[in-house]
Amino acid sequence: MALAGKHILLIIGGGIAAYKSLELIRRLQDQGASVSPVLTRAGEEFVTPLSVSALAGRAVHRDLFDLTSEAEMGHIQLSRSADLVVVAPATADLMAKMAQGLANDLASTLLLATDTRVLVAPAMNVRMWEHAATQRNIERLRGDGIEFVGPNEGNMACGEFGPGRMAEPDEIVVAIAAHFNPERVGKGALTGRRILVTSGPTHEPIDPVRYIANRSSGAQGSALARALRDQGADVVFITGPAEVRPPEGVEVVAVESALEMEAAVQAALPVDVGVFAAAVADWRVASASDRKLKKSKDGLPVLEFAENPDILKAVSQMGAGRPPLVVGFAAETNDVVENATAKRLRKGCDWIVANDVSPATGIMGGRENAVVLISEQGAEAWPRMGKDEVAVRLTQRIAEALEA
Ligand code: CTP
Repeated sequence: MALAGKHILLIIGGGIAAYKSLELIRRLQDQGASVSPVLTRAGEEFVTPLSVSALAGRAVHRDLFDLTSEAEMGHIQLSRSADLVVVAPATADLMAKMAQGLANDLASTLLLATDTRVLVAPAMNVRMWEHAATQRNIERLRGDGIEFVGPNEGNMACGEFGPGRMAEPDEIVVAIAAHFNPERVGKGALTGRRILVTSGPTHEPIDPVRYIANRSSGAQGSALARALRDQGADVVFITGPAEVRPPEGVEVVAVESALEMEAAVQAALPVDVGVFAAAVADWRVASASDRKLKKSKDGLPVLEFAENPDILKAVSQMGAGRPPLVVGFAAETNDVVENATAKRLRKGCDWIVANDVSPATGIMGGRENAVVLISEQGAEAWPRMGKDEVAVRLTQRIAEALEA
């Protein structure tokens, strides 16, 4: 946990990106940080004080004069109690106030009163970002020692395209971790390693509008790609149509079917490590129709299946050019260790990360996972933990294996 014991004062400004700050609170906590939230008046238009305080697990500060908790904790103390002040989203208005040294509400007063370092994640319309006044303010703030993360370029809520989108929560967490550990930036345990991760379900077409899918959300694969990236790996992330978005800062190859995933994996080789977290469909419809099947005309359809290529097995057994470490996953509903041990031998991979996906566990599609790591050395059961934590642990093991 990169932020264990750190206390973050999070100022949430008034922008549409404020909703991402809720996710940011979660991610900071996942990394061991505690968060004191401050919500500006404009921020309250976008997220409610209740959701912010519920997620942070402590009261949200909203009003300068409300700090009649002056008795308890005045704005000076509040602004200095943190290890880092983070402004996300930082609006053009808030940055202009910071640059001018204005202190006419709680957020700007805290920012003026603090002697703690400040990290700013700007979010605004493209034109506002590019305006000479904003750029001038940024120059000044940089000169004052304020750190920045983002903004990113992309489609904006206002319908325009360009720079101005707030950095993703993940990126902000990486920037915060980099602030506390500058010596580790670019020097993760996996720097220079090329690692392939497959993730998500596959969709096997029946006809142009229908497909066969499975319940994989892609959460574990995404978490893995993120953890590997955080250790400096160059990650090729080959993902089926997942619910969970891929992390920033990885090379994303989006595919639909098992056949497409296989082609993308072959194209990504050679790699130092292959991690196969995708829930690949074992079968595809043998002759998917290229026109929509009609209810009345075509009668009840009879689908014939063909077996999909086993991507993990093919890579594990490819001989020359085989990645030095190949990691498979096994989703089992019973006799987890026995089945997964046999699966490791059958497929020829080095490790199998096995989990019990029987409905009672709530693991498939959930936030937690309970896995058994199976290798030549035997089976090692890990306690139930968040999928992010499984990813971090597995990343650590991968780094150790490559060093050995
Ligand atoms: N896998 C793959 N290509 C396939 C099927 C599975 O790469 N066509 C990979 C998965 O990404 C996972 C591992 O193989 O890493 C285990 O998949 P699973 O479907 O659980 O194993 P199966 O071989 O299908 O075994 P069984 O049907 O007996 O559970």
